[in-house]
Amino acid sequence: MESTRSRLAHRLAEAGQSHLVQFWDELTPEQQAEMTSDLEAMDFQEINKFFRSAMEVSHSSKQEKMDARMEPVPREVLGSVTRDRDCLKDWEEKGLRCISQSSVAVLLLAGGQGTRLGVSYPKGMYDVGLPSHKTLFQIQAERILRLQQLAEQRHGAKCCIPWYIMTSGRTMESTKTFFSRHSYFGLCKDNVIFFQQGMLPAMDYNGKIILESKNKLAMAPDGNGGLYRALGTQGIVEDMDRRGVKFIHVYCVDNILVKVADPAFVGFCVQKGGDCGAKVVEKTNPTEAVGVVCKVDGRYQVVEYSEITLATAEKRSVDGRLMFNAGNVANHFFTLAFLRDIVKTFEPQLQHHVAQKKILYVDTQGRLIKPDKPNGIKMEKFVFDIFQFAKAFVVYEVLREDEFSALKNADSQDGKDTPTTVKHALMSLHHRWVLNAAGHFIDENGTRVPAIPSLKDGTDLPIKCEISPLVSYGGEGLEELVSGREFRPTLVIDESGAHELVKNGL
Ligand code: UD1
Repeated sequence: MESTRSRLAHRLAEAGQSHLVQFWDELTPEQQAEMTSDLEAMDFQEINKFFRSAMEVSHSSKQEKMDARMEPVPREVLGSVTRDRDCLKDWEEKGLRCISQSSVAVLLLAGGQGTRLGVSYPKGMYDVGLPSHKTLFQIQAERILRLQQLAEQRHGAKCCIPWYIMTSGRTMESTKTFFSRHSYFGLCKDNVIFFQQGMLPAMDYNGKIILESKNKLAMAPDGNGGLYRALGTQGIVEDMDRRGVKFIHVYCVDNILVKVADPAFVGFCVQKGGDCGAKVVEKTNPTEAVGVVCKVDGRYQVVEYSEITLATAEKRSVDGRLMFNAGNVANHFFTLAFLRDIVKTFEPQLQHHVAQKKILYVDTQGRLIKPDKPNGIKMEKFVFDIFQFAKAFVVYEVLREDEFSALKNADSQDGKDTPTTVKHALMSLHHRWVLNAAGHFIDENGTRVPAIPSLKDGTDLPIKCEISPLVSYGGEGLEELVSGREFRPTLVIDESGAHELVKNGL
């Protein structure tokens, strides 16, 4: 024990982190043992190196300088669901074929802490208050199930879309338990693969690791770009290889409209020979909190909303649209070959981004302090930082109202990206699906509700309507259920048919 301790003390001293054991003598033997094992597992030299280079980059890449180096995405790498309507069927067909051959996997980034939403459990477990009360995880699982079924029907072969779920030290246990409690939402357990990203300590501006209590370091997940290290350390690339996966759709947990393994997106990327692709929506508001896909110094990149200046965000092209309008919806396509190269060769070259944060800490007297201004940094890699290594980068533009509504914040008056706004986005999409399948809605007096409801009464609430992903992935297959019929909201369509809910429980 003594030698372990002195070895540790020596390593800490060498790394300039001896303050971490300043309360050692006050700890119980159990706390000492736990802390020893936490500290033993850490590579302080590497952490110090991350800190130095992250700070260097954050100082040198002054935002103002970035402006002149940014260029919009060129038209030739861009596909669009609106401008390239003629190709859409082909892309979808191609994607479905890949799915039917079990060569497409989906990978969910679910290691975030959901700080803005303010819940203590993983965001995927959130129930936004749909009539079915399905959680984000369940909605995604059911889309996977339906897509497998569609591919099987089209190509007559049984297939599987493996679902890789990246969690962090903070979300792993609760996520796994949740899936097991819900019997994997009907998916085969063996095809839902959990793996864990790394954690890094928060540091003060002098590079000292912050203690959040006398015996605990302030640790946080290492960003969604922690994916690439985890893919290597957890053997995920090999697992994909073993299963015959060739293409991977990577996405974030919070978008209620996400088209997991979207056949059109996959088909587009494959058809174009892309090794790396990003889905975008048109950014129309300069201050919207989405990153923009663009080129910086001739290389593809996402410039995050926190890293762009207002002047650049407001720049417009001659057609009046925002110049940097390729809004990142955090849906990415990678070939397995590309991911293998990243893991083997490029991952160590990725720089951490620096986020200045207010971090709870204990002072030298051991008192817990809640700072009122940022007192340190968290270091994160970002999932899109590998775009720069792509040999053939492609961008796919989709409609926001069909594919993007993210849950970021708790409900508040006029709040953006809240449980209410995402619930409304889903119901409004499903309302349109019913109308497009020749169904109608009537009000309490039996009068047909116009397709675009009047806002005279001062509300802009959508028609209450929810369609189970088990019935329809993207609006298909609804005619036989709704065509020529009239429904009083709340309308729920699930495997047992179309029902009007007697009580509007929304
Ligand atoms: C993200 C994108 C932003 C995009 C926006 C769209 C990144 C870095 N930024 O921003 O460009 O416009 O979504 O909604 O991708 N996560 C982890 N591990 C971590 C941190 C996060 O797995 O250590 C996961 C989260 O669980 C979530 C996703 O990454 O699924 C996005 O994280 P979040 O911090 O919410 O990203 P945004 O800032 O909203």
